[in-house]
Amino acid sequence: DVNLKDKAAGNFFVGAAVSTNRLTGGYNDLLTNEFNSITAESEMKMRTIFLGPGDYDWTRPDALVEYATDNNLNIHGHALVWHVEVPDWMTTFTGSNEEFEQIMEDYIKTVVTRYAGKITSWDVVNEAINDGGGVRNTIFLDKLGPDYIAKCFQWAREADPDVLLFYNDYNTPADLTKQNDVYALIDELQADNVPIDGLGLQMHISIDSPTRQQIQDDVDKALERNLIVHFSELDVRVNPDGREIVGTLTEERDFDQRLKYKEVVDLYNDIPDPFKYAITVWGIRDPDSWIINQYDRPDWPLLFDGSFNRKSAHTGFLEGL
Ligand code: XIL
Repeated sequence: DVNLKDKAAGNFFVGAAVSTNRLTGGYNDLLTNEFNSITAESEMKMRTIFLGPGDYDWTRPDALVEYATDNNLNIHGHALVWHVEVPDWMTTFTGSNEEFEQIMEDYIKTVVTRYAGKITSWDVVNEAINDGGGVRNTIFLDKLGPDYIAKCFQWAREADPDVLLFYNDYNTPADLTKQNDVYALIDELQADNVPIDGLGLQMHISIDSPTRQQIQDDVDKALERNLIVHFSELDVRVNPDGREIVGTLTEERDFDQRLKYKEVVDLYNDIPDPFKYAITVWGIRDPDSWIINQYDRPDWPLLFDGSFNRKSAHTGFLEGL
């Protein structure tokens, strides 16, 4: 049976989001058989690493990096700056903006330096644009000012001249106002010579939306700007809004999901070589998916079922390659 990574070999990485607490027996085997790249589901987020100014906990990220290195897995770093999973001490920080900025610079440089040469790429800033457009009002915008995104990319680049630097966001294929503002941000960064290498399209999508054309239009805008494109957090919901909620993965939706995976992979495959990097799925087994907590309804968004069996979605992924 052909594996995802083998079929995509020489073309792009096939990645999965992983958690250190799941790296046991069957999960291990499946991960290393089918995938050749990983993203940390939460191990490299600020809340995990950053205990306080100058105070870092490397236990979990180091374990993951060691695991990936031992198993020849590419590593995508996620995420240096995100308004979710900010440590509590930072949310309640009462020092000056200058102090806050120094803390952020130290954080980014320390983390990027630690993994320089070991990881290929970083999501430097994650989800900085609002749904429906506009720069998201976060602690980072508030304390560092409107050019905080540029600063974060520059600090990351100063710490590692070689690592690929990505901006990462969700739902831009379907939300055109948001999409416009993401590209306005990127245009501004590029005009100011801020080092940005790529764009992560998260691709938390459903069997109904976005359409192939919507995804293609978004990808085309990234390519016009010479950005590497990463489908960074792919999953395909079968119980989206606007549909009757089903309690099992029906044959019809199972088939629609296979087609959607095929469509997305096929489209990614057509990206010109230098701008391809990886398709990363956001988890391996359906019951481990974040979607179930997020939407509070049953779903089966991934490529494998709870017993590590391949689903039709896996066939669809292979068909797209
Ligand atoms: C999610 C993880 O999957 C969860 O385990 C965690 O509790 C919250 O974050 N966009 C992102 C990811 O960029 O970091 C999020 O991951 C999913 C949405």
